[in-house]
Amino acid sequence: MASVLRILGIETSCDETAAAIVERRDDGTPRVCSDVVLSQLDEHSAYGGVVPEIAARAHVEALDTLIDEALKRANVSLSDVDAIAATSGPGLIGGLLVGLMTGKAISRATGKPLYAINHLEGHALTARLTDGLTFPYLMLLVSGGHTQLILVRGVGEYERWGTTIDDALGEAFDKTAKLLGLPYPGGPAVEAAAKNGNPDRFDLPRPLVGETRLDFSFSGLKTAVRQAATAIAPVTEQDIADICASFQKAISRTLKDRIGRGLQRFKTEFPKTEKPSLVVAGGVAANLELRRTLQELCDASGFRFIAPPSRLCTDNAVMIAWAGLERMAAGAAPDDLDVQPRSRWPLDQKAETLLGHGKRGAKA
Ligand code: KG4
Ligand code: ZN
Repeated sequence: MASVLRILGIETSCDETAAAIVERRDDGTPRVCSDVVLSQLDEHSAYGGVVPEIAARAHVEALDTLIDEALKRANVSLSDVDAIAATSGPGLIGGLLVGLMTGKAISRATGKPLYAINHLEGHALTARLTDGLTFPYLMLLVSGGHTQLILVRGVGEYERWGTTIDDALGEAFDKTAKLLGLPYPGGPAVEAAAKNGNPDRFDLPRPLVGETRLDFSFSGLKTAVRQAATAIAPVTEQDIADICASFQKAISRTLKDRIGRGLQRFKTEFPKTEKPSLVVAGGVAANLELRRTLQELCDASGFRFIAPPSRLCTDNAVMIAWAGLERMAAGAAPDDLDVQPRSRWPLDQKAETLLGHGKRGAKA
């Protein structure tokens, strides 16, 4: 008879408080029993970004209720779960402490094992839950804190092929929005404005295009946007739309070049992979222009393009629960209860830190 592992996932690394109950059958089939997310967007928007102290307090206030809600919606109690998985890095340390301490307390009280999960591993393994993807595959993580191209070889086996040497892509969207007077978070605002804009009006730079290394750079683009806006100030609504459209076009061109090279490298290193795949994750993955660009690139390169549903691309506890289940299934030992949260925790331990990488507290 097939056995089922059931786990409680907890996520508190940034500005989403989340809890979920997820199951995995021994043939690898997943089942999401509940998925509860509370976004703190309203609490931070007045400040134009995430305020760590406000975030930590909001996690404290919401987490217990959210866990109760996740159990209720899954129709189970704590005694019915086999383990607890809590994000323990990277991210904002106050929030990580709240989630990990709660996970430890539940583990101590119930005697169930605790898995301290790397948030990036959650993003990296999501496509196995949504699409049953097999190893190896490539993952592009584009969020407010990270822009990384990662080779996913297996559970716990990650190789960073490229990263940003300055701003994360979501950060570039947020900063561009801010300097154009658009609301926070900037990504959706820039995308909406770009719909009515002329992408060919401003010729913005495409940093690192043509270079063989697979890294990214976005701070020059933001500076160019500032210069373009200053040169035509005061800007009209149409000017803003044109700048946003030109900004997105520059990003598309940059990603096409950078990721295109990554796909070629994958083909060279794994020539026997029958249907190579590129997965996208992170908040910026909601951007339709970005999705179109990556889809075109994959079509042209013989890759399958996988964009999990937005809810599972942005921060959530289902991916943390799933990463815990994957680790359990792979025979990984649980963590000791003295495990500490880590604000910085690269997935690829061998990859060196590049200048400026993870400036915003290495959140993902
Ligand atoms: O993964 P996420 O929800 O949170 C963390 O960064 O942890 O990503 C948030 C980022 C923000 O920078 C936001 O501006 C960006 O994702 N974003 C977008 C879009 N929606 C969210 N960027 C571009 N286009 C969008 N539609
Ligand atoms: Zn994230």
